[in-house]
Amino acid sequence: MTELETLRADAARRSGAGYGEGALIVCDRLVRIYSAEGIEVQALQGLDLVIAPGELTAMVGASGSGKSTLMNILAGLDAPTAGVVRVAGHDLGSMSARERVQYRRSVVGFIWQQTSRNLLPYLTGLQNVELPLRFAGASRSVRRSRALELLEMLGVAHCARRRPDEMSGGEQQRVAIGVALAGAPTLLLADEPTGELDTETAAAVFGALQAANAELGVTVLVVTHDLEVSAMVRRVIAIADGRTSTETLRSDSTDGGGLGHAVEYAVVDRSGRLQLPHEMTDALGIRDRVRLEAEPDHIGVWPDSPSALPTTSPAPPAADAQPSPIEVADAASASISGQADG
Ligand SMILES: Nc1ncnc2c1ncn2[C@@H]1O[C@H](COP(=O)(O)OP(=O)(O)OP(=O)(O)O)[C@@H](O)[C@H]1O
Ligand SMILES: [Mg+2]
Repeated sequence: MTELETLRADAARRSGAGYGEGALIVCDRLVRIYSAEGIEVQALQGLDLVIAPGELTAMVGASGSGKSTLMNILAGLDAPTAGVVRVAGHDLGSMSARERVQYRRSVVGFIWQQTSRNLLPYLTGLQNVELPLRFAGASRSVRRSRALELLEMLGVAHCARRRPDEMSGGEQQRVAIGVALAGAPTLLLADEPTGELDTETAAAVFGALQAANAELGVTVLVVTHDLEVSAMVRRVIAIADGRTSTETLRSDSTDGGGLGHAVEYAVVDRSGRLQLPHEMTDALGIRDRVRLEAEPDHIGVWPDSPSALPTTSPAPPAADAQPSPIEVADAASASISGQADG
């Protein structure tokens, strides 16, 4: 095999069958570069993500980490610079303008953070929810009953005849979820839908997203800064520097109802890279590189400094017998050259 063939085979193996099979959302090394006034910003830097149908997932991350960029691409409002993104079988990187419009109408529903951006101010709650159904060609009676059903499910039936300026912020967002659900989308995207709301109101809006997920089976991906909201979700994905970095998974609690113990995982990308959380690396002064040690059931990660060599296994020698860093380094090079000789 030539070098090029080897590279191609490697790429095919990595992107080949299997990755994201059966998933609703698949992002494969997704890149989005913005260039403005000669400056390039890499908002997404090879992001990998797989979300199964029917999941309710929260996404967190520092400001500027690329959350909205990802949401806009998934919503069909923006296109990736490179990489692959598939939603419900649609390849979002290669859609025509017409397909994109169709995709936005029938596959995804989107809720913005700004309450005022989601609803038309001169229409009532009911009329707002009916509007997408009218575009879809539904009959008057179907429109009415479907819109009322949605408002009921979201706990805002009392807002049917009110205009947005007669609703609270939380009510507006719940009606907005109804608008997003009207076209019976497969995927519901919400970019900080509770960002402008107080905690209690945010919980009600989040409850409406949970109801949509549980009762309609729609897959939900919600960006949030709200720790209380993310604590109510089984899977929380953290984005850092344009990539998925860590995930927190919560098990079903054993005492019935609610979610139990949370475990944080680092995401291993398709090339085997993983990002260590800053809190962990900073505490140990880890920079540039780490030393790895393969154990039968785990991998040890050690700071790259002789003075910080592991002292847990084997058992640490007595304090006064501690070798100096130089001795450790000498011993290490001796054993390496010994191996090379043998
Ligand atoms: N239209 C644009 N033109 C140029 N740069 C952009 C554009 N949109 C976003 N960016 C840049 O891309 C990066 C990611 O932005 P993004 O809006 O996705 O972040 P975010 O995670 O949603 O942040 P926040 O939590 O503040 O909403 C940022 O550095 C941002 O400045
Ligand atoms: Mg954002």
